[in-house]
Amino acid sequence: MSLMRLAYASEATFEAKPVEKGVEPHVARILMTSRRNNAKGKLVGGLYYGNNRFFQYLEGEEDEVRKTFDRILKDERHRNVVTLIEEPLEDRTFSNWSMKYVPLSRDVRRFLESQGLEAFEPASFTSDQCEDMIELVRNSSHDQKLVNHDDTRTVGDTPQAFSPGLKAGLIAAALCLLGALFFAGSML
Ligand SMILES: Cc1cc2nc3c(=O)[nH]c(=O)nc-3n(C[C@H](O)[C@H](O)[C@H](O)COP(=O)(O)O)c2cc1C
Repeated sequence: MSLMRLAYASEATFEAKPVEKGVEPHVARILMTSRRNNAKGKLVGGLYYGNNRFFQYLEGEEDEVRKTFDRILKDERHRNVVTLIEEPLEDRTFSNWSMKYVPLSRDVRRFLESQGLEAFEPASFTSDQCEDMIELVRNSSHDQKLVNHDDTRTVGDTPQAFSPGLKAGLIAAALCLLGALFFAGSML
């Protein structure tokens, strides 16, 4: 059986929602399915999501990679898929990851800055830049449990200080406090 590797870039079609547990909710669902299917198909690789763009790297048995990529191509959660690498592979280069997820971490920001790139636009990466990205994900120690909110900010995004739920809670608490003050004031 022959091994192959594949990398592509695409654009998300969904509106990014505030991160939950360090991951954008649409991306979290994609990761859940990917990890289940890729573990079964002995596929390994990494997924970057930032600036509403995806960069994904996959390696494994050729028929599994192609079968999976065919499904990915039909997925309506992204569009404008550009294949960046598609070639045979001698040996596996990722060890035990079914789908490693690395949000736009400091490493990636540093990489973009070093390349003079202002935003994460993987469709325009040169082949050297693709290899650097793959190396970053290979060496990254992040996993879903380790990511924090700072790491999930995309280049050019403003951080989400409060989630809508937290905002509503704070407003309710402030109203209760005001009510209590008025009540205390009227008792004097
Ligand atoms: C950016 C992106 C990356 C994806 N990566 C994978 C992947 O690595 N493996 C996978 O099985 N599905 C992946 N999917 C999901 C597939 O498109 C498809 O929804 C899924 O494989 C269907 O699996 P199911 O039949 O088990 O529900 C990805 C989808 C998107 C949008």
